Amino acid sequence: MLMFETITPHGGRLINRCLTQEDQEKWLKKTDSLPKLAVSSVTVSDLLLIAIGAYSPLCGFMDREDYDSVCQQMRLSDGTVWSLPITLPIPREKVKAIESSSHLLLYGPDRQLVAVMEPKSIYSIEQQQEARVIFQTEDPSHPGVARLYQQSNIYIGGPIWLLQFPDLGLFSEAVYDPRVTRKIFQQKGWKKIVGFQTRNPIHRAHEYIQKAALETVDGLFLHPLVGETKADDIPAEVRMRSYQVLLKKYYPTDRVCLGVFPAAMRYAGPREAIFHAIVRKNYGCTHFIVGRDHAGVGNFYGTYDAQKIFSQFREEELEIIPLFFEHSFYCLKCEGMTSYKTCPHNQENHVTFSGTMVRKMLLAGQTPPPEFSRFEVVQVLIEGMKEKVKV
Ligand code: ADX
Repeated sequence: MLMFETITPHGGRLINRCLTQEDQEKWLKKTDSLPKLAVSSVTVSDLLLIAIGAYSPLCGFMDREDYDSVCQQMRLSDGTVWSLPITLPIPREKVKAIESSSHLLLYGPDRQLVAVMEPKSIYSIEQQQEARVIFQTEDPSHPGVARLYQQSNIYIGGPIWLLQFPDLGLFSEAVYDPRVTRKIFQQKGWKKIVGFQTRNPIHRAHEYIQKAALETVDGLFLHPLVGETKADDIPAEVRMRSYQVLLKKYYPTDRVCLGVFPAAMRYAGPREAIFHAIVRKNYGCTHFIVGRDHAGVGNFYGTYDAQKIFSQFREEELEIIPLFFEHSFYCLKCEGMTSYKTCPHNQENHVTFSGTMVRKMLLAGQTPPPEFSRFEVVQVLIEGMKEKVKV
């Protein structure tokens, strides 16, 4: 039997940078003699995703060559398509110690030892330039740009090995390794699998486009992002409850697989859509949904920029097939979910709310209408908001 009956991982093979127990023990004995670096929760999630192969073909953090090539051409230096820099910023005062050592230990914000790294290159970057090319703005009110400006402009590149699986609390069990999802899809007999990225609860528009996609493929991989998001996004644990309640009541559960994606949100719009698609290909998806303003924030990107960017690459370079969806909504005259592509009625018949409006309503204890979000989801969200206010 072929190893991959479905889509080939990006770059040709699934990377595995998780150490065997024997090697783990070897490194754990050496901890006193190696330089140590405390890294952010964003880096911890990148470490995990590199190690389990979700970021294949990456084996570590980018060196200068890959970084420049990704920023300028959306490709790694060997030509493989890759749209976002995966980098490790280090404080200036750590440079000397790291330069003089062959290996470096990386600790998470909870002081847990996560990984060992072989530092190959240390380089400084121009933050405004990175902001311009990746986020298309230098404006620090953009959450991705703000995060970039808060960190050091010195990056360290090199391969990593995961020493210990980071503690992801509630989610650890739902973080499937791409090898596992590929096996699950195979066992279910799915050949065409559509991946769905979200950082939000599932509203009617999400459900509509997921189910429209499900009409033409075998299975849906619901893969909500649970890594760091901006402070006013709905917390991941609340969202998880809403997914579970929704799947149980309104989805054909034998055609849906729910796993979590522990990456941080970058809000890089079009570039992040390419990244999201490539990563879902590594998990074994053959198709990927890109709707309106995918991975966008505020008015930084055009509504369909994240769809247009796919035309910059040849189909065989990405392999995963993007499924584009128009802005969809409930139309009171059509009496159902629809979009500008299929609905002939005026905008005043369309039930639409922005994420900000929904959050404000929920915080005020008001319920968004059932045409926007199912009652069961709204209930979970209102409960979740109450818990948040208590904290
Ligand atoms: S994000 O990760 O892309 O920021 P979000 O939850 O807002 O997450 O959207 C998930 C997916 O649904 C994205 O592909 C987005 O483009 C799509 N989407 C969200 N709302 C709509 C809508 N009303 N119509 C069409 N597509 C939508």
